[in-house]
Amino acid sequence: MKMDVLLGLQWGDEGKGKIVDVLAPKYEIVARFQGGPNAGHTLEFDGIKHVLHQIPSGIFRSQILNIIGNGVVLDPIILKKEIDGLGKFSIDYMKNLVISKKATIIIPTHKLLDAALETSKGDKKIGSTLKGIGPTYQDKIGRSALRVGDILSPDFKDKYQALVEKHKTILSFYNHPLDVLAEMEEQFFAAVEFFKTLNLIDSEYVVNDALASNKRILAEGAQGSLLDIDFGSYPFVTSSTTMTAGACTGLGVAPSKIGEVFGIFKAYCTRVGSGPFPTELFDETGEAMRKEGNEFGSTTGRPRRCGWLDLPALRYSIMINDVTQLFMMKGDVLNIFEEIKICTHYELPTGERIDRLSFEISDLDVKPVYKAMKGWNTSLKGIRDYDNFPIELKDYVSFLEEQLNVPIKLVSIGPDREQTILR
Ligand code: GDP
Ligand code: IMO
Ligand code: MG
Repeated sequence: MKMDVLLGLQWGDEGKGKIVDVLAPKYEIVARFQGGPNAGHTLEFDGIKHVLHQIPSGIFRSQILNIIGNGVVLDPIILKKEIDGLGKFSIDYMKNLVISKKATIIIPTHKLLDAALETSKGDKKIGSTLKGIGPTYQDKIGRSALRVGDILSPDFKDKYQALVEKHKTILSFYNHPLDVLAEMEEQFFAAVEFFKTLNLIDSEYVVNDALASNKRILAEGAQGSLLDIDFGSYPFVTSSTTMTAGACTGLGVAPSKIGEVFGIFKAYCTRVGSGPFPTELFDETGEAMRKEGNEFGSTTGRPRRCGWLDLPALRYSIMINDVTQLFMMKGDVLNIFEEIKICTHYELPTGERIDRLSFEISDLDVKPVYKAMKGWNTSLKGIRDYDNFPIELKDYVSFLEEQLNVPIKLVSIGPDREQTILR
């Protein structure tokens, strides 16, 4: 059996959590492969709305084994809060949640470093979620990080202290205050004691044994391809590999074992944090999109920047991920518009039109070139079948399929599990 991968094709928050939860009954395992508590994946069902940060979105389906893979950076304090928050759902997390011993641990000083580095960048700040993601991946690549398995070692505290001393040197360079550290450490070590009681495993064996015995695995991406460390709008990116290849390194699965790649995109674009966004709207149309789409961060509550769909960017993401099926999310948010625009090209200051994301593009003042389409401008409430979609929405979907050359197999028209239309 091959492993399917589900990932965001834009700047995150495409609706990955909702769709993992919808697809989960078709799988035996759901596995997160990168990112950490910077993610906020929202699920809605039976009138309940729940946001997950580090726990995979298969957790509400009792038959699913949820794996936090080696590629993830994990904050024990947030994990404890997340598990406590699941208390009311009677989930057997000892049975349904396992964590790779090779995942990397976020320690309190990583969060302080994240804040110090952001402050030092002034108006060039990334807009990080301040969860310690960048500094933790930096230590991982620099070969000095602590991993989940280390917490079981008798000299964990010594290893921890050595890393903290290194961090303190950097923090003092930035004159960053340390007065909150003692309290953060108290919470951290309490959470580590709880962490030790969880199911900590060598997840690469579990994943590969499962594939060998024909079990179905869905790898759940966090963030989106345009935030990828290599292919995103660097330096305004996250610090992990958010693309299909990240599912291989983040779980220990060979590229030849990747099956379907589900690429999720919103029917428009949003971005939270800094960085280029060619189709961003600064007018009342953008404001209306934000309001209608409730575009406020699931992790930080920050307002998301909004704009029309960007085809050159979407094509780029489809290319680097080899997307086999597209899922279009939040179609209902465009109900309010009489006319909908889609960016087909960028125009350079020289007047030349391009449809590729070159290295230089983020420094150029590109203008989006739009195709306008008639909006459906009607509610989609109650529709449960593609045939009943308004003709203008069907035209929108067909135009995108033609432009992107990949079938759109699912259209989401609301946050609830039920508001999902398969084609
Ligand atoms: P993720 O990070 O990709 O899992 O996405 P988020 O959960 O951060 O953001 C997506 C938001 O859109 C959440 O509030 C979802 O409940 C909501 N959502 C998902 N699909 C739809 C949809 O089709 N329509 C509407 N209106 N909201 C949706
Ligand atoms: P999900 O999984 C949207 C953005 C931040 C910032 C940049 C770097 O919910 O789609 P980081 O904290 O990673 O150092 O921040 O990346 N970012 C996200 N934006 N959705 C996310 O996750 C994000 N995770 C990080 O806003 O611009
Ligand atoms: Mg999110």
